Amino acid sequence: MTHLFIILCCLSGVNIIINYSLLIIYLLNYSQKIYIMSKAKTVYICQSCGMQSPKWLGKCNQCGKWNTYIEEIISVSKKSKITSFVNKETSKPELISNISISEEKRIDTKNTEFNRVLGGGLVPGSIVLIGGEPGIGKSTLVLQIALNIAKKNILYISGEESLRQIKLRAERISNTTNDCYILSETSLENILLNIEKIEPDIIVIDSIQTLNTDKLESSPGSVSQIRECTNVLLKFAKTSAVPIILIGHINKEGNIAGPKVLEHIVDTVLQFEGDRNHMYRILRSNKNRFGSTSELGIFEMRNNGLCEVSNPSELLMSQNNEQLSGVSISASIEGVRPFLIEVQALVSSAAYGTPQRSSTGFDLRRLGMLLAVLEKKVGFKLSTKDVFLNIAGGIKVDDTAIDLAVICSILSSDLDVSIKKNICFAGEIGLSGEIRAVNRIEQRIAEAQKLGFSKIYISKYNKKSIEFSKYNINIVFVGKVEEVFREIFKE
Ligand code: TYD
Ligand code: MG
Repeated sequence: MTHLFIILCCLSGVNIIINYSLLIIYLLNYSQKIYIMSKAKTVYICQSCGMQSPKWLGKCNQCGKWNTYIEEIISVSKKSKITSFVNKETSKPELISNISISEEKRIDTKNTEFNRVLGGGLVPGSIVLIGGEPGIGKSTLVLQIALNIAKKNILYISGEESLRQIKLRAERISNTTNDCYILSETSLENILLNIEKIEPDIIVIDSIQTLNTDKLESSPGSVSQIRECTNVLLKFAKTSAVPIILIGHINKEGNIAGPKVLEHIVDTVLQFEGDRNHMYRILRSNKNRFGSTSELGIFEMRNNGLCEVSNPSELLMSQNNEQLSGVSISASIEGVRPFLIEVQALVSSAAYGTPQRSSTGFDLRRLGMLLAVLEKKVGFKLSTKDVFLNIAGGIKVDDTAIDLAVICSILSSDLDVSIKKNICFAGEIGLSGEIRAVNRIEQRIAEAQKLGFSKIYISKYNKKSIEFSKYNINIVFVGKVEEVFREIFKE
C-alpha cells in the first residue's frame, strides 16, 4: 500500500517536473519569439552588385564600388498571402522524352518587330524584362502591345501613372481594343489578389522598381524588394503559364535596376534604346532563353505612338540627292539585319591649339585609331584638324565594318571631294591600314544591290566567300586604305 502511495507520489512528482519543464520550454520559446519580433534583423546590401554584409562597408569587396552599402531590414512578417501561389506539391523529375511541349505555343503580340526580337512571340510562362532610359518610350511600347493583342485578357499594372494618365496615353495610340484591364497599384500583395480575381492571359508591369511587398520592410526600388517581387512573379508565371512583361529603369551605368540580379532571374532581357532627339528607337535582345539575341526591332516614335519600321535602310540614308563632301554609305549589319547607314564627317582646321575629335553614334576611341592609321599609312596630316563624325538617324553602331565608310567620309571632307552617291563600303580597318574581311558579306552585298547601289568596296579577303553570279552590283576588292583612296579620289 505504502509502496503504491510512494510510486504515485513519485509519478505525480515526475509529472509536475515534466509539466514545469514543458512550461519553462514554452516560456523560453515565447520570450525568444518576442525577442525575435522586437528586434528586426538588418543587413547591409551593396546597391550595385547585391552583396550582403552584416556591417557597413565603405568599399564593396565584390564589385569594388564605393559608398554603395545601404542598410535594409530583412525581418519577415508573420503571414504572407504570396505563399498561396507557391506550388505546394513537390516537383518530381520527368524524363525529357515524356515532357510535352504542345502548350508551348507562342502568343502573337501583333507587333512584327516585337515578335521578331522575342524570337516569334511571347512564350507562355516567361518573364520578359524591357529596360531603357527614362522617356525613351517603354511605357508607350508595352501599352501599345497590350492594347493591340485582341481576344486576350490583359492586365496592365502601372505603379507610375494614374488610370487617367494611362487612358490619355491610350487615346493617343490608335487601334485600341477594350480587352485590357488597367490597374494603378504598387503593392505586390494587392496585385496578386487582383490577378487571382481577373485571371489574365498576359500581365504587364510598369515598372518593377515601383513594386513593394509587405514581406520586406525596405523601401521600393531597393535591391531586396526588386529581387523578392521578381521572384514571386517568376513563381507565379511558371506555375500559371501566364507571361509577364516587366519594365525596368536603367541607372547611370546602363544597368537595369542597378545590380544584375534581375537579368539573371528573368527569361528575356530587352533593351530599348535610341536618341531622344531622333525618332528612331531600337529594341535589342540582350538575353533570350527562347530565341536568338542577334535580332533587332526598329521603331519610329510618332505623334500616335511607336510605328514599326520594316525597311530601315531607306530611313537611315538622307533623301538628299545632291553630292556632298564628307558623306559616305556603309553596308552595315546590326544583329542579323543588314542596313545601309550614312556616315557624315566634317574636317576643318583647328581654331584652338588642341584639335577636337567628336563623334555621335560611333566609338570615339575607334575614331582616334582610324585617324592615326590615316596619318601614318596614307600620309594625311590630320593632327592639326578638328574632326566631327556623325552617324545619321541617331543610331549607335557597333559593327566594325563601318570603318571603311568612316575613313572615306573623313578623307572626302578633308579633300572637299564628294563620293559618288551610288557607292557603298563594308570593311574593317586594321592597325597597319589593311582592310579586313567582315562577316555576313553576302547579306551586305544583297542589301546594297536591293537599294540600287552600283558599286560596293569590300576587303579582298572576303573574295572566297562570295558567289559572284548572284549579283549585278560591281564588287570592288581592296586590300589597303591607299588603294581605296586612289580608286575614289584620284579617278
Ligand atoms: P514613355 O513611354 O512615357 O517613356 P518611358 O516609359 O520609357 O519613360 O514615352 C515618353 C516619350 O514618348 C514622351 O517624351 C513623349 C513621347 N511620345 C510620343 O512622341 N508619341 C506618343 O504617341 C506617345 C504616347 C509618347
Ligand atoms: Mg514609363
